[in-house]
Amino acid sequence: MNRHLSTFFIFTFGALGGLLFGFDTGIISGASPLIESNFNLGIGQTGFITSSVLIGSSVGALGVGPLADRYGRKRLLILAAILFLLGSTLSMIAIGFWSMVVARIILGLAVGSASALTPAYLAELAPAERRGSLGTLFQLMITLGILLAYVSNLGFLNHNLLGIRDWRWMLGSALIPAALLLIGGLLLPESPRFLAEKGDSTQALSVLKMLRKNTADDPKRELAEIEEVAKQPKGGVKELFTIARPAVIVAVGIMLLQQLVGINSVIYFLPQVFIKGFGFAEGSAIWISVGIGIVNFVVTILATFIMDKFNRKAFLMFGSIVMALSLGVLAVMNFTMDIHSTAVPTMILIGVYIFGFAISWGPIAWVLIGEIFPLSVRGIGSSIGSAANWIGNFLVSQFFLVMLAYFHNNVGGPFAVFAVFAVLSMFFVHYLVPETRGKSLEEIEMDLRHQAK
Ligand code: BGC
Repeated sequence: MNRHLSTFFIFTFGALGGLLFGFDTGIISGASPLIESNFNLGIGQTGFITSSVLIGSSVGALGVGPLADRYGRKRLLILAAILFLLGSTLSMIAIGFWSMVVARIILGLAVGSASALTPAYLAELAPAERRGSLGTLFQLMITLGILLAYVSNLGFLNHNLLGIRDWRWMLGSALIPAALLLIGGLLLPESPRFLAEKGDSTQALSVLKMLRKNTADDPKRELAEIEEVAKQPKGGVKELFTIARPAVIVAVGIMLLQQLVGINSVIYFLPQVFIKGFGFAEGSAIWISVGIGIVNFVVTILATFIMDKFNRKAFLMFGSIVMALSLGVLAVMNFTMDIHSTAVPTMILIGVYIFGFAISWGPIAWVLIGEIFPLSVRGIGSSIGSAANWIGNFLVSQFFLVMLAYFHNNVGGPFAVFAVFAVLSMFFVHYLVPETRGKSLEEIEMDLRHQAK
């Protein structure tokens, strides 16, 4: 292991899976109409190409956890990088509907694995007092990936460089971050907590020393605390139904709600909403996406700086209120006012809604699933949370356009439904989410164990 890696390198590369997550989910909004006309696909087939990634992700997220608890976080990150490279190559050279579906499912397996591995990996490397901010780097990478996907859509559209079609360039550009992830994966250290759990104290201590070299934290004391908790009698996977049950409920609930407030109706479909709902031209609609991508990314940068300054629950509650209000006003406005006068206020309110999400539920849902589980089931626990996220995402993506059509292309309809979930999310946060800011992972685990007694 390289003892001289900077912590900046470790956390940036450690979070890089997020960039591919964002890129591979964001790229398809621009690429799918082009693939549709190139391969002469029906609308159902195009929809399936979009959602096949989400199916792969649910499976990848669920499958990776038990493996990560057994073989370590690092090896699985390397495997995810290899799947990213394979999926990106195959989607770039796909020759028809089925080869594209296979490529997208492989990409999904990679995205799902990365989304289950990264939050726990980052949480296990970070010092307690900065865990929120460092965990938010994952979401920052997701939002950067989405923004890069939109920019790549704009940049390659209608340019068949070297005689290769534009959409092939769009999908192929994911090879660059995938290669970086592979290099990062090979250089990154294994999680000290995983090493300690497996009894390798020497390695665990040397990783902790590297991670804490510029801080006042004492690596030896931290290792002693980790080992103390790792000694607790373990019930294996059964722990998910006993001491870790409250954590499972929180992880699944927070992830489903993170999706059911409708974020991806905006991230994936906003151009279509403006084309169908407000009669915008295709060319101008894609700029709306870029605008949303920028707001999403910039607000997440802000979140990174302030994440450890306020309680996680306070952020979540604030975000729920902002989202419920902006969606509620949007819905009422679109049902009561003339369609021509609502386009601009709709855009502004969507900006406010994105702000509400990006400052709270976007990062915190991922931070929480990495930190609320006991060490022995952390991999599988975060897998379950992550899979719930992908299933929620699949549901919203499948039904959003159907709902929009049901309400005669009035966005007020689906957004009213999302507003209801934003209100429900407040109760969930108030009654069920534990506060984890500033506590070490070992303290969080001991709280769970005491609660179960
Ligand atoms: C969500 C994604 C979403 C993204 C938007 C993530 O936290 O899980 O589904 O596309 O945020 O920034």
